[in-house]
Amino acid sequence: MEPVHLLLISGSLQRASSNRALLKVAARCAEDLATVGWYERIGDIPHFNSDLADDLESVVDWRAAVRAADAVLISTPEYAHSLPGSLKNALDWLVGSGDLYEKPVGLMSAGLSGGERALDTLAQTLHAQGSNLVGRLSVPGVRPKLDENGDIADLETIAQTCVLVDAVVDAARAARRSS
Ligand SMILES: Cc1cc2nc3c(=O)[nH]c(=O)nc-3n(C[C@H](O)[C@H](O)[C@H](O)COP(=O)(O)O)c2cc1C
Repeated sequence: MEPVHLLLISGSLQRASSNRALLKVAARCAEDLATVGWYERIGDIPHFNSDLADDLESVVDWRAAVRAADAVLISTPEYAHSLPGSLKNALDWLVGSGDLYEKPVGLMSAGLSGGERALDTLAQTLHAQGSNLVGRLSVPGVRPKLDENGDIADLETIAQTCVLVDAVVDAARAARRSS
């Protein structure tokens, strides 16, 4: 079977992001299991407005990247007890296109508290789009788990991330077999 394609999406736009660091771990976990792509342009997508034409370049690019993926892994910080607006906005653009419908999605959050409220909101948003929510990982107190390069050094977090990646890839393979 052709390898499944896993798309990694960070809800944080900053480069020195702990959620980005968590996704780098996920990319390594997936190395022998899937092809891996990153979507790093959610900050370029305009605020959702039904009056806008949906053939805008940034929207077409975003939808195509999600559509081409067999599975998606999102890692997001919690902002003010919820999702960063840029991530929620990007997800709202997928409601009309249906590109997340039945797609296996893994949810992660790294930050001060571990982002359980952000994960709850993310789960609801994805549930509303009919996504297949495969699992979630919360990484509280992330700063001490980073090394001097900003990479995740905590072995338990690395192991937990690989378990989630395995589950997401398995779900994508199962979806392929049944289609
Ligand atoms: C605007 C803002 C709001 C935040 N709100 C929360 C919050 O509600 N709960 C929480 O645990 N952390 C909160 N934080 C802390 C972030 O979770 C933490 O900075 C996280 O590491 C950011 O993710 P990143 O390193 O991937 O950018 C907030 C940070 C910012 C900048």
